[in-house]
Amino acid sequence: MAYSLGPIEARASTERAPWRDPLSYWGSIDAATADLDAPVGVLHADAVRFNAHDLLRRAAGKPVRIASKSLRVRSVIEALLELDGFSGVLAYTLAEALWLADTIDDVVVGYPSADRGAIARLVTAPLAAARVTLMIDSIDHLDLIDAVRPPAERETVRICVELDASWRSRGPLGTVGVHRSPLHSVDDIERVARAVVERPGFVLVGIMSYEAQIAGVADTAGRRAYNASVAYMQRHSMPELVERRGLAVERVRRLADLEFVNGGGTGSLEQTTQDDSVTELAAGSGIFAGRLFDGYSRFSPAPAAAFGLTVARRPEPAVATVLGGGFVASGPPGLDRLPTPVSPAGLRFIPRESAGEVQTPLAGAAARPLRIGDRVWFRHAKSGELSERLDGFAVLDADASGILRVVDDAPTYRGEGRTFV
Ligand SMILES: Cc1ncc(COP(=O)(O)O)c(C=O)c1O
Repeated sequence: MAYSLGPIEARASTERAPWRDPLSYWGSIDAATADLDAPVGVLHADAVRFNAHDLLRRAAGKPVRIASKSLRVRSVIEALLELDGFSGVLAYTLAEALWLADTIDDVVVGYPSADRGAIARLVTAPLAAARVTLMIDSIDHLDLIDAVRPPAERETVRICVELDASWRSRGPLGTVGVHRSPLHSVDDIERVARAVVERPGFVLVGIMSYEAQIAGVADTAGRRAYNASVAYMQRHSMPELVERRGLAVERVRRLADLEFVNGGGTGSLEQTTQDDSVTELAAGSGIFAGRLFDGYSRFSPAPAAAFGLTVARRPEPAVATVLGGGFVASGPPGLDRLPTPVSPAGLRFIPRESAGEVQTPLAGAAARPLRIGDRVWFRHAKSGELSERLDGFAVLDADASGILRVVDDAPTYRGEGRTFV
């Protein structure tokens, strides 16, 4: 692989930070990719390296499991795994995990699977069964696996149990966090952990508890009152979780020799790493740094992934229309889910059309000098979802004289012919 994240270890991660100078940053990307056809995805290798090392710095010595949903590029996952500090993958589907497990020996599926076909493949393949761990939060999940193949006819299945990390505030905020595992109390998780331990054909190896309300909620992105309520929520939620998670881990460790306790995400690494009950962290979004990750007070990732579209028509002197653009992110619909035109600076969407299915008109003074064939650069709101829109990313790295060049093509999952959700 021509593209490696390794050498950055030899130099300070902030030594080269072209993204602090947006004009030259995006301008140099333009020059380096002039020959590539749109939609063109780019990964800026130095930005990826900076982000990788910044995640490790914030993890403060605990290993970071790579949340693959936030990348969806196999060569980047493999390059990260070559760095000391990243260890294992947190996959998003079992089919994906089976695919990755051909080359990666530690893959935890971060979300329960009800995919009978994939379960059948897992439990009849000794190597995959040794490498892949399934997430459960209910005895029904065990029943489903047994219904696919009873224990006597299959491999032992590695199991991780998920503890709900949401904060059940007594105030007006109500429950804050994601609606995932029903196992909230220490007794809840102990009950399911005991069931795993007592049933043949399963081995309990881990606990996961993801504090989305800390890791996934930006604390400087909104208005002052909103930011203040996020700060209040995060200040109260984390101590509650640390205490509950600590007790849950202690109780479950009496039943099984756990290999790992996973917590956190890109937005919470410095807090989660301080929780003594957590043995490893998870992170992914901080590598490509989708725009929603600009709004955190605790860290500033480099915009490492972008996509370029080409101006295809000029309906008016102050409007330039690019082909493509409607790469809208998942989650509660809102303007923050749209891609952001970043270069040339000063372009904006026309509200009645916005980011279009096939065409996206862009307005503003910056549109005037644009000509047919010129390129406009965008950032996606999220990180891994951009990979579903592209066959691959051109990896850009500086040559010996500091000029940015395409050094590699990193196919996305989609480019490898895979879609998992
Ligand atoms: C279970 C789990 N862990 C960790 C994360 C953090 O991922 P990221 O660093 O990409 O935000 C997520 C993201 O949603 C998640 O679902």
